[in-house]
Amino acid sequence: GCNSEPPVASRECTLSLVRSGYPYISAQCDRLGTNLFLSRLRLKKTLFMRGEEAAELFYNDELFTRENAAPKRLRRTLFGEGGVQGLEGEAHRQHKALFLSLMSQSRIDALVELVEHYWQLRLSYWESQASIILLDELHHILCRAACAWCGIPLHNVDAPEMTKRLVLMIEGGAAIGPKHWASRRARHQTENALIDLIKQYREGLRDADPSLPFATFADFRDAEGKPLSKHVVAVELINVIRPIVAVARYMVFAVMAMHEHPHCREQLSHRESGHYRRHFIQEVRRYYPFFPFLAARIKKDVTWNGYHLKRGWQAILDIYGTNHDPHRWDTPDQFRPERFEQEKTDLHRFAMIPQGGSDHATQHRCPGEWITLALIDLAVKKFAQQLSYNVPPQDLTVDLNVIPARPRSGLILSATRSVS
Ligand code: HEM
Repeated sequence: GCNSEPPVASRECTLSLVRSGYPYISAQCDRLGTNLFLSRLRLKKTLFMRGEEAAELFYNDELFTRENAAPKRLRRTLFGEGGVQGLEGEAHRQHKALFLSLMSQSRIDALVELVEHYWQLRLSYWESQASIILLDELHHILCRAACAWCGIPLHNVDAPEMTKRLVLMIEGGAAIGPKHWASRRARHQTENALIDLIKQYREGLRDADPSLPFATFADFRDAEGKPLSKHVVAVELINVIRPIVAVARYMVFAVMAMHEHPHCREQLSHRESGHYRRHFIQEVRRYYPFFPFLAARIKKDVTWNGYHLKRGWQAILDIYGTNHDPHRWDTPDQFRPERFEQEKTDLHRFAMIPQGGSDHATQHRCPGEWITLALIDLAVKKFAQQLSYNVPPQDLTVDLNVIPARPRSGLILSATRSVS
């Protein structure tokens, strides 16, 4: 019949993927006229997938599994071992419900208030400086707010050290050599500091607010009444504070987009800009590269769109490419918030997947999506309505082969002042 394996892009693509970064998978798709192709990644036969339809297939958990799918180097740096990302089935559902229980509107509001509080404290420092690097500053503010929000005391490990370690975990995941090792060390140190706190709490030597994530995770009992190990509690707490710090990148991209598109900033400066602001934030999450792709394994032979896909293959879903798929997004490489006027939802299931797709509760989709939207919104309001600042000449290049992406300068701002 006409059924066959997907087209083969190359025998092995690890090096090319590392060299070109985010646009690599899309470039192969465009070249082959397909959204599905085969190659080898670190010698493993791998199916590369891009676009809304392919994303829906990737999230079919009858056919695809995440178990042992993420590369070991990522588990040792970015994710940690034993956490929610690598779980499947009932265990995943239980951990995921815990994360989602932290995301009520009142808890999100509490986080935004804490961020505003630490931001306000830091503002006099900004005003005293000729210039600041916004990415570093937001890492610092978000780290303090995230720890306070979780009920993690910061006097044991001091705040600058904690910030540095979390940033190393965020940036060292994709790195090789010394940066990878520094990232692993940062994870060990942070896990160990948290394990000490959990031990003290469980031995009754330390109090914790029962409504905050620290106690939520430390007190959790599974269906058989078993607690999580101290190590897993530490990994899951880091799974909350680390990505909150990572939202700094989106906040920086939002300020950068306002700088590069002054007409956007103009519209956002009106206080009744809520509707437009939502579209602007969506476009920030669609347009700028962040999490590059997801890994899974095919667990059953399947025929899809005339292609045979085989059990055991590794599968890679291209996040950046899906958000820029020319079949779904008109002029995908232009920054145009207006495009969202025609979109029916803020949280697409498969067409736009910067934080994963499908369902939050039953799939691995990011439970921090609402927090992320709220924090970008805070940054946009601050910078469009409450602060005056200059953007001096600097190198704002976003290298597409640096993962996770950032403007080279980190976004330098000068003469920052409060205007409200
Ligand atoms: C999962 C992106 C913010 C916590 C994910 C996934 C992506 C992602 C792509 C994987 C989805 C999948 O495997 O299907 C992002 C981006 C963020 C962000 C780009 C913006 C900086 C957050 C925040 C939190 C968070 C603020 C927590 C407060 C998590 C957790 C998972 C996850 C715990 C694992 C969920 C699971 O395996 O079920 N995120 N995230 N993320 N994210 Fe986020």
